[in-house]
Amino acid sequence: MRKIVPLLTLLCLALTAGCNQDNGATGAFSENNSATLVPADPDLAAIYNRSCRSCHTVAATGSPLTGDRAAWAPRLEKGMDVLVDNVVGGFGGMPPFGLCMDCDAGQFEALIDFMSTAGRAAP
Ligand code: HEC
Repeated sequence: MRKIVPLLTLLCLALTAGCNQDNGATGAFSENNSATLVPADPDLAAIYNRSCRSCHTVAATGSPLTGDRAAWAPRLEKGMDVLVDNVVGGFGGMPPFGLCMDCDAGQFEALIDFMSTAGRAAP
């Protein structure tokens, strides 16, 4: 364990350049909730699983977790165009394209829509 902690810290720093735990998440939403969510569309699910998911189900990355509506609400207020631009250009601890180099804007939009609304109970 003694060796693992500094390693994890390093990994975390490398991933987020800061290890910011405060991602705006509130309430009981957890990584476990997040990990169960996958887009219904198989093509989108494949993209999500190989890129976005590795960070957006891990709170230590500082990312808004998939399905955590409270964390996504202030992000969505920026507007979809701004969010897509921020994915393409990289944003905070998120690398450019969210690691999906061949995704287009429409796919990013669908992924953002999924991540911010997945698991949402009927209104
Ligand atoms: C290497 C980790 C990582 C990956 C991979 C990743 N993200 Fe992120 N993402 C983050 C982090 C960290 C933040 C929060 C950045 C901040 O607020 O400083 C974030 C924030 C976001 C935001 C909010 C941006 C804003 O303006 O508030 C969107 C949208 C987003 N990610 C979409 C995606 C999509 C879509 C994918 C997959 C194609 C993806 N991310 C892949 C780490 C990642």
